[in-house]
Amino acid sequence: MEIIRTVAELRTKLNAAREKGSIGLVPTMGALHAGHLSLIQRARKENDTVVVSVFVNPTQFNNPTDLVTYPRTEAADVAMLESAGVDYAFIPTVEEIYPEPDTRVFDLGPVAEVMEGAMRPGHFNGVAQIVSKLFDYTRPTRAYFGEKDFQQIAVIRKMVQLEGFDLEIVDCPIKREDDGLAMSSRNVRLTPEQRAVAPVINRTLQSSLEFAKDHTVEETKRFVIDELNSKPHMQVEYYEIVDAFTMQPITDWAQTEQAVGCVTVFCGDVRLIDNIKYQQKK
Ligand code: PAF
Repeated sequence: MEIIRTVAELRTKLNAAREKGSIGLVPTMGALHAGHLSLIQRARKENDTVVVSVFVNPTQFNNPTDLVTYPRTEAADVAMLESAGVDYAFIPTVEEIYPEPDTRVFDLGPVAEVMEGAMRPGHFNGVAQIVSKLFDYTRPTRAYFGEKDFQQIAVIRKMVQLEGFDLEIVDCPIKREDDGLAMSSRNVRLTPEQRAVAPVINRTLQSSLEFAKDHTVEETKRFVIDELNSKPHMQVEYYEIVDAFTMQPITDWAQTEQAVGCVTVFCGDVRLIDNIKYQQKK
């Protein structure tokens, strides 16, 4: 595996790789875990060359403390990428990516206005900035994203359409710990007590599948919010049940082909997200 720190070198290497076959890109912010590994393994199976970017992108953090406390574990990340058979690890500095401030504003529309978009102003524009840069540098055949950040995938698809990138976005299922907690780089910040409670997020979403069978959308939302808020350390920021394609909240199960429940919960001061797909009622 080669570690690449500059955009110029990345372009040169990948121009050569593109001549020979397909390129799979896995964009990450590092602090890699088994969830990332599953994306990398899939990229490895489906492409001739695999490049993983490791870059904590400052423009997508609307909360400065979150940016400062975001885990950075480069040595462990490099070891994991090496053993996963990655060809190129792209690990640039902030100055390399943003020699000038990025002033681009993407017209991402309604998919970016709700949930994370409403709670974290500027977050999705920052995601669009970095992902569009990475797509431009690497011009991948396929790019891999985890469904834990369900709304992010919809936003990236919108950015791809706006910018006219010719590539396939591959969405990959959420990887979970044995107790059901969705894998996240932020999990390492949980105290032992918080970590012990956190699996209730997935358990509650799972039990809401059964509950939803004979309850309205509103009642199902209430069920999830009340259940989670009743647990120690837990404070729900939002629970929305949305259409899986438009990300718009629904009020009736019949309004969509595929409903997805998206939750954000503060567990102490660690912000965790998760989601679940509801079975469509006929
Ligand atoms: O999902 C993430 O880790 C980040 O938002 C991404 C896509 C790597 C962009 O910085």
